[in-house]
Amino acid sequence: MANVIIVGMQWGDEGKGKIVDLLCPAFDGVVRYQGGHNAGHTVKFRDRHFALRLIPSGILRPEMACFMGNGMVIAPDAFLEELDQLAAFGVEVQGRLFVSNRAHVLLPFHAAVDRAREAAGGGNRIGTTARGIGPAYESKASRYGLRTCDLDAPDLEERLAILRRRATMELASLGAATRATAGAPATSATSETPATAEAPAEASATAEASETSEITACAEQCRAWAERLRPHLRDTEQLLNAWIAGGRSLLFEGAQGTLLDIDHGTYPYVTSSNSTAGGACTGTGVPPTRIDGAIGVLKAYTTRVGGGPFPSELGDARGDFLRQRGNEFGTVTGRPRRCGWLDTVVARYAQLLNGIDTVALTKLDVLDDFDEIPVCVAYRLDGRELRELPPDRRCLERAEPVLRVFKGWQRSTAGILEESELPAAARTYIDFIEQELGAAVTLVSTGPRREETLLRDHPTLQRLTSGRLGQVLEQR
Ligand code: IMP
Repeated sequence: MANVIIVGMQWGDEGKGKIVDLLCPAFDGVVRYQGGHNAGHTVKFRDRHFALRLIPSGILRPEMACFMGNGMVIAPDAFLEELDQLAAFGVEVQGRLFVSNRAHVLLPFHAAVDRAREAAGGGNRIGTTARGIGPAYESKASRYGLRTCDLDAPDLEERLAILRRRATMELASLGAATRATAGAPATSATSETPATAEAPAEASATAEASETSEITACAEQCRAWAERLRPHLRDTEQLLNAWIAGGRSLLFEGAQGTLLDIDHGTYPYVTSSNSTAGGACTGTGVPPTRIDGAIGVLKAYTTRVGGGPFPSELGDARGDFLRQRGNEFGTVTGRPRRCGWLDTVVARYAQLLNGIDTVALTKLDVLDDFDEIPVCVAYRLDGRELRELPPDRRCLERAEPVLRVFKGWQRSTAGILEESELPAAARTYIDFIEQELGAAVTLVSTGPRREETLLRDHPTLQRLTSGRLGQVLEQR
């Protein structure tokens, strides 16, 4: 049985959630391995529309087991809210949703620091989702983070005190905060803190009392979260490896995209985890030798949210058209996404880093009305043509796209399920992508719904779906 990684080949929002949901019938479980509630997975099925942030997209299929790996950072309040939403829709998760007891916990401290940094950032703003993802991964790397297994630890208060102290120090240095406890948003010291006329000794006693009461409140909150999380907490690395040994197949659901990877992305405009395929192993404890392949999800054009270089970006009406037609607004933050042409420098890099076996091309229908469709195939920089992504953000900022222009098809592709029905110009566009990447495009998505996806009966897709392509087609 094949264990497969699904990964985004651009800057996120490629439509991974839909592809994961579609392919579920070929797998026994879906596993998330990195990120947190910065991810937004939208799944539409008939009259239902779900926006999932933390819980794997597979949860909407009652027969699927879902796992949240050690590589994630989990905000318990966001997780519990998602559970409540699923319950309200009648989605039963008991006994099939497992959370790693080694995953790190994202606390309100982290979100307060993230917000304050972005507010103070000036030219250094990353344009984060302001959820606290970076600071939570920093606590992990600095080795004072809290893991899900620690939420009711006997030394919880001491550990929270360390977290609070570090957050408070940073917030103060940013001139930003007075309170950052569980449930209490940080407030601006300049605008909202009343001037104090207390003597220094009294002020220090007041600060100490406030610290103690904040930590007590936060610890209470953590223990309450622990109660609700407990039925889901597991040694997921043991569970996942036992599943594989028992012949069950797993689909690893990447969040964000290759170019947002902390190591390989457009640093520093990246997220704080390894969103490339390699993250699936470190983020779950499943060894590389148990992985059978990777499916890359590639949008037919490019989008990114937040700051950072984007060589094929369109600042004109065509960019606005892509945004409106493609509904390119963030699932998590609602921010308008920046839009541009497909960039095969980026896609080839993603192919290289993830070892993509086959590609799912999404949102092809959004290009239906264009008479010409340019594709960025290289960058021009200081009179040279680059076919590979430069590491230096300044180079990338100055890079001019080298465009190859394709003829548009100017015909609706929405809902096409047969390859033979694709307009010839759309076929040429797809052929070019296949040539550039050296991998077959075996899924083409032409609408937001599960049923609006063309699947090719191709040996690679057969292999990666363990011969269960028929079931995928039946349940499409
Ligand atoms: P963070 O992950 O909130 O720290 O944000 C870092 C960068 O990653 C920002 O540019 C975000 O807009 C971007 N980002 C994070 N999650 C997603 C996602 O799911 N889709 C697209 N961009 C994302």
